[in-house]
Amino acid sequence: MRDLRTYVEAEVELGPGLTVVAGPNGAGKTNLLEAAYLACTGRSFRGASDRELVRRGADAGHVSAEVESGAAGALSVSAFSVGIQPPDRRRLRVDGNPVDGLLDHPARPRMSVFLPDRLALVKGGPGLRRAHLDQLLVALRPSAGPLRRGFHEALRQRNALLTSLRTRGVDLDRARGELAPWDRALASAAAALTEARAAAVAAVDPAVAERARQLGLDGELEVAYRPRSSTDADELLQALSERVAGDLERGFTHHGPHRDDLAVRREGRPLSRFGSQGEQRLALLALLLGEADALHAASGQRPVLLLDDVMSELDVERRSRLVEVLAGAGQALITVTEASHVPGADADDVGLVEVEPGAAATVRVATVSTEADR
Ligand SMILES: Nc1ncnc2c1ncn2[C@@H]1O[C@H](COP(=O)(O)OP(=O)(O)O)[C@@H](O)[C@H]1O
Ligand SMILES: [Mg+2]
Repeated sequence: MRDLRTYVEAEVELGPGLTVVAGPNGAGKTNLLEAAYLACTGRSFRGASDRELVRRGADAGHVSAEVESGAAGALSVSAFSVGIQPPDRRRLRVDGNPVDGLLDHPARPRMSVFLPDRLALVKGGPGLRRAHLDQLLVALRPSAGPLRRGFHEALRQRNALLTSLRTRGVDLDRARGELAPWDRALASAAAALTEARAAAVAAVDPAVAERARQLGLDGELEVAYRPRSSTDADELLQALSERVAGDLERGFTHHGPHRDDLAVRREGRPLSRFGSQGEQRLALLALLLGEADALHAASGQRPVLLLDDVMSELDVERRSRLVEVLAGAGQALITVTEASHVPGADADDVGLVEVEPGAAATVRVATVSTEADR
């Protein structure tokens, strides 16, 4: 990377397993994970603008990643690169060729991110979980992408018509007539989406429960799909038509899968209300790891795990368990203030990147020490 966040210039070589990224507060550990994510997706996992990403005082920033993908014996290497020149200049390339986006590129590694902010997935409102569920769904089954877009398009059109009917002051009977074709389109798109969501949750639930056990979360963890409307197209159609008066009054569709939730429960109780900080952390980790397992089962590829500040709030026993779990979970980067927070960090197959704060706030270079250097 060059001129990104705190980095003037840095090059990091990562092993196939766990890499510990260690350094004091503000040294640039999260920035490093963010750069790895940026290189492979074209996006910041913190939702940062291009101006925030480019190092203060620099005009442009750049990051590139060399990525191995494919099965053992048939590995291919792709080079992803992102050049940013605020306010609006961006250059994305794969193997030197300009591309419009990286997200759909077949050689792009999947990335699964644990950030303390993401605890909102366990603690926060249903909207976040719904968006997460739909992302998972598309990752597990790429053909579900059009299905999800189809639903949102049908919803958008029905809502637009509701607004128009309301402003025109159309009476209820006539409104029903005008809405009918849109209701049918919405109900069938909704049924397809809810079926796919249910299948995705069913595919990850056992893996999430297993990961939670391995991580030492007491009690059985369960993720369950909570549709808020009927998953049957005819029943939903009926429900929509019963609610036309209310929808007209508000100018939008208030019933359907855009209200669904994903429940994260332990022993039947929502973890959002009955879990400690540490338990919620473990549950989020179990969720991400279980999803990674399901993705691996579906596609043969494991996502790269980016785990930021995960060790704080975990006791020594759970930290050890996490490291054991990560040993078999593919490539992972984990940030800590002290390498000693990762039990087993000195093992031969664990990489260490020490991020050292420079004398000036902007000069920082990360070096990777490998087995050979030690
Ligand atoms: N565009 C930027 N240019 C220079 N410094 C930046 C930029 N964006 C963030 N920083 C600095 O990065 C530091 C935080 O880095 P971060 O990776 O979050 O630290 P940590 O090692 O604690 O994870 C802060 O000191 C912040 O001022
Ligand atoms: Mg940080």
